[in-house]
Amino acid sequence: MQLLYGKPVADRIHADIRERVSRLTIQPKLAVILVGNNPASHLYVSLKEKEAAMDGIAFEKHILIESTSEDEILSIIARLNEDVSVHGILVQLPLPDGLDTDRIIGAMDPNKDVDGFHAHNVAAFLAGDKTRIPVFPEALMELLLSSGQPLEGQSAIMVVNSEHFGRVLLQAGANHGLLGRMIPSERLLTETGMILDARVVMSACGMPNLITGNSILPNTILIDGGIAKDESGRTVGDVDAENMAHQTGFLAPVPGGVGPVTIACLLRKVVFLAEKKRTPEVST
Ligand code: GUN
Repeated sequence: MQLLYGKPVADRIHADIRERVSRLTIQPKLAVILVGNNPASHLYVSLKEKEAAMDGIAFEKHILIESTSEDEILSIIARLNEDVSVHGILVQLPLPDGLDTDRIIGAMDPNKDVDGFHAHNVAAFLAGDKTRIPVFPEALMELLLSSGQPLEGQSAIMVVNSEHFGRVLLQAGANHGLLGRMIPSERLLTETGMILDARVVMSACGMPNLITGNSILPNTILIDGGIAKDESGRTVGDVDAENMAHQTGFLAPVPGGVGPVTIACLLRKVVFLAEKKRTPEVST
């Protein structure tokens, strides 16, 4: 297996971001809302903050206690929607139980929704607006493109545990000429011996060892977008990578693959939104 590491892909995107930020007359700003004590969420937000600082992007953090009411979160979002210095808003998921994620995501101005989770943005993307690609599928596609392999007309299987996400990923692939279909993770678990017979396999389920060496064909390009902890607490993806080394083909591994690329794509989106919103300089 040839490994498709995320770092060189992310480094290239950060270089592009810095160059674009240097040409702006305003500083792009990302506002992040984090509710509760989920350690993984705190870690992800601190990684985003560190990378934003290195790229010259301002980072406004709203760290809220677990018991914060939905109304309070909605009023922060309303303020951020109105604040012209804020170009992107991100609500770190998952939210604590009892909060209505769809309502909170839906309260964001779609033009500031950096993740691309807002229903308007998803609908626009599925209707063909490539600029509305959500950040996570975009990161998976960046890793796939980094293989350098031709994609036009190639078969693809998206292994997913949500039909909604599967449709988005199929659209992302179709935009690069992939002929894709989706397979729900539970089918892969229940149909023993199932072969994922496609040139490209992308998986984003958070289920360790879902995909083994026996479930793919030789020379598959395998993009692992899952993230979970195994029994010994190690971060792993959906792919049983240890038993894949002898296989031909490509693997974007977890860890080391999609994580840094997702952050880079997220920050590039903030810059894109700032470029779109850029106001003419006012002379005084
Ligand atoms: N939690 C885990 N991944 C993500 C992500 O990409 N965006 C948000 N908002 N929350 C997450």
